[in-house]
Amino acid sequence: MIDLTVAQIAEIVGGQLADISPQDAARRHVTGTVEFDSRAVGAGGLFLALPGARADGHDHAASAVAAGAVAVLAARPVGVPAIVVAPQQNSAGDALSGVLEHDADGSGAAVLAALAKLARAVATELVAGGLAIVGITGSSGKTSTKDLVAAVLKPLGQVVAPPGSFNNELGHPWTVLRATRDTDYLVLEMSARHPGNIAALAQIATPSIGVVLNVGTAHLGEFGSREVIAQTKSELPQAVPSSGVVILNADDPAVAAMAQVTAARVVRVSRGEGADVWAGPVSLDELARPQFTMHAGSATVDIRLGVYGDHQVGNALTAAAVALECGASLQQVADALAAAGPTSRHRMQVTTRPDGVTIIDDAYNANPDSMRAGLQALAWIAHGEAQRRSWAVLGEMGELGDDAITEHDRIGRLAVRLDVSRLVVVGTGRSMSAMHHAAVLEGAWGAADDRGAVSVPDADAALALLRAEVQPGDVVLVKASNAVGLGALADALVSEGASA
Ligand SMILES: Nc1ncnc2c1ncn2[C@@H]1O[C@H](COP(=O)(O)OP(=O)(O)OP(=O)(O)O)[C@@H](O)[C@H]1O
Ligand SMILES: [Mg+2]
Repeated sequence: MIDLTVAQIAEIVGGQLADISPQDAARRHVTGTVEFDSRAVGAGGLFLALPGARADGHDHAASAVAAGAVAVLAARPVGVPAIVVAPQQNSAGDALSGVLEHDADGSGAAVLAALAKLARAVATELVAGGLAIVGITGSSGKTSTKDLVAAVLKPLGQVVAPPGSFNNELGHPWTVLRATRDTDYLVLEMSARHPGNIAALAQIATPSIGVVLNVGTAHLGEFGSREVIAQTKSELPQAVPSSGVVILNADDPAVAAMAQVTAARVVRVSRGEGADVWAGPVSLDELARPQFTMHAGSATVDIRLGVYGDHQVGNALTAAAVALECGASLQQVADALAAAGPTSRHRMQVTTRPDGVTIIDDAYNANPDSMRAGLQALAWIAHGEAQRRSWAVLGEMGELGDDAITEHDRIGRLAVRLDVSRLVVVGTGRSMSAMHHAAVLEGAWGAADDRGAVSVPDADAALALLRAEVQPGDVVLVKASNAVGLGALADALVSEGASA
């Protein structure tokens, strides 16, 4: 963060000082980072006291100060120097569901509101000093694209980008506050559960470059319709000022239409000719890494991606467009993309064990679009020259509302159509039963020694099955919504092979 005194922070967030005199508050500077995990606090830091399901951050305030925090941002006095903001009823109903697990008295909402104010003040000051903010939204691929954007901007200056998927009312301002006066580019992932969420995040830190990847069906259950999802995503192009740039995926009609709602200049990316940045025919190598010629205006460059799956082409074109806007050369973009492997864990991490088993760990997240993308990558890798056996170990796709059964049914059928050798359906709820039955009903399938689709109750049972039956040379895709917990299964598969 930029250097601010405790008194300045209190004024920005509208809080009262507790257990620190006004004189001391004016003298003591926060020079470190802002943390919500007391174990992460270091010298000169600011600790956010947030309520959790099991622990309340207010109970850890003293240890945060012992670890070096200058002060605590809290909803009540905590016996150590603090800036106290009044608990508030969460005005947008359950707007913070999924962000705060437990906030009965509104103290978490108050601390988050204060955090937003602080982040906004810091972002405003840093932008005045030349910081460029890139905001990325879309139903699928925000984190993947964020990692590629960070990679292509690195040759141009100092980049701050969040770890993993820090994209909500906590992770977003937390990331903003990692920026310092030395930061040139701040790359932010912006996600929504309700209309208005992205507009609110954009108010905290207004992107000068806004990116919209796609409008899919992720979180359809919470939004109700694809139109509402599109409107919510369009809050980002609406927030980018006329001096800024909006980068739109022209291959998604709902995204292309957002050119109408922004005052900013529009840059279109596409897998087909005619956009500002576009890809010629795409080929995949034996591990499904895309290669293509990228066109930008009349210039071209050959691109070989270090990330896996055909769906990464659009993400890479988008990242390239961001970098070109920031002044990168085509060759710089090509070099950076070639060097950028998967960064955030459990997102299309492809590992081949010493015994030749390839594991595609995409266990972090799943929705219908990314399930299709993952299965296609599996099929590509398995059906190359070597003809390998393929396993799809799939768990539930969460938050699909009324469409859950239909969408799981479709994925079951797709696994058969892509000629996946073994489908392991993890979980026995209605959605997973639908996936299993769909695959079974889709028809005769698999080689004689394969048994097609199998249903197991949980990740442990899936792991036991895989341990017993995976053979050298097989390819295994592991994928589900994060809550299913298949990440640990993927880790186990990868490490077992390493020690074999
Ligand atoms: N452009 C894309 N189209 C479809 N699927 C994609 C795309 N990019 C990435 N994916 C897949 O979608 C899943 C989620 O990817 P990623 O974590 O990048 O998305 P996200 O938008 O950040 O998700 P979240 O909303 O959970 O933060 C992964 O399985 C990934 O392989
Ligand atoms: Mg993400």
